[in-house]
Amino acid sequence: MGRVAGKIALVTGAARGQGAAHARRLCEAGAQVVITDIRDSEGEALAASLGPAASYLSHDVSSDAAWRSVIAAIKDRHGRLDVLINNAGIAVRAGLGDTDAELFERTVRVNQLGTFLGIKHGAELMKAGGGGSIINISSIAAVKAQPQFIAYTSTKWAVRGLTRAAALELAPAKIRVNTIFPGIIDTAMLTDAVPTLNVAEFGATNTPLGRVGTSDDVASAILFLASDESSFITGAEIAVDGGVIA
Ligand SMILES: NC(=O)c1ccc[n+]([C@@H]2O[C@H](COP(=O)([O-])OP(=O)(O)OC[C@H]3O[C@@H](n4cnc5c(N)ncnc54)[C@H](O)[C@@H]3O)[C@@H](O)[C@H]2O)c1
Repeated sequence: MGRVAGKIALVTGAARGQGAAHARRLCEAGAQVVITDIRDSEGEALAASLGPAASYLSHDVSSDAAWRSVIAAIKDRHGRLDVLINNAGIAVRAGLGDTDAELFERTVRVNQLGTFLGIKHGAELMKAGGGGSIINISSIAAVKAQPQFIAYTSTKWAVRGLTRAAALELAPAKIRVNTIFPGIIDTAMLTDAVPTLNVAEFGATNTPLGRVGTSDDVASAILFLASDESSFITGAEIAVDGGVIA
């Protein structure tokens, strides 16, 4: 019996990177997984590779209308939602002087508003099923500020606040809300933000455990928080960072 057998899970921003690893791990552990993203061809290919337990929906997390439509589609197809991973995110390298109102607002819309809308709309469907688990992806940047990423850093701090406030509001409905702080994880987000970065070397040098993190490292924590093994954990912050925050 898989650790999340029979659960219905939604993973946003899952066409590639960490979200793709979470979708794969949840499928392997018995869940039916709805993958969403704005990278449609990659998302569809991933869902096809995972077989009938996975499906793909095009979904911009910064849009209230898109959230309503995705949740309605899950209700129609599966009748309920047990696990929601608010994983979609953007990180643009820009310090205070280079961050204009448009970049700041765009980052807020994806990382912060997107997480808020996911909690809001996802929780409504979870309530109908008697409870669930919401996992919000923050960052070590929510503990340790990152220079040159002022918009990103501020939205990842906001995800901590969203998580705690929602955990308290949704506890009576048996919906748990937790957050994960990934450390330096080897995905395209880092090289998209800093094209010259040697990710393996940067991770090994700046991580106490001496290596860069992988998407699978984070997926292990996701599986635990998605499963009933974590049934008494809500409002928590789990760092998967090889000791960076320590
Ligand atoms: N890579 C790291 O070192 C690191 C560290 C800490 C936290 N994180 C966080 O982990 C999460 C996953 O990032 P990743 O490392 O896999 O990077 P990634 O860039 O590979 O994945 C992010 C995904 O989000 C999707 N996305 C972007 N805007 C979207 C939107 N408006 N609607 C829907 N999807 C959208 C992208 O298409 C992409 O597939 C992000 O929230 C990121 O901030 C990453």
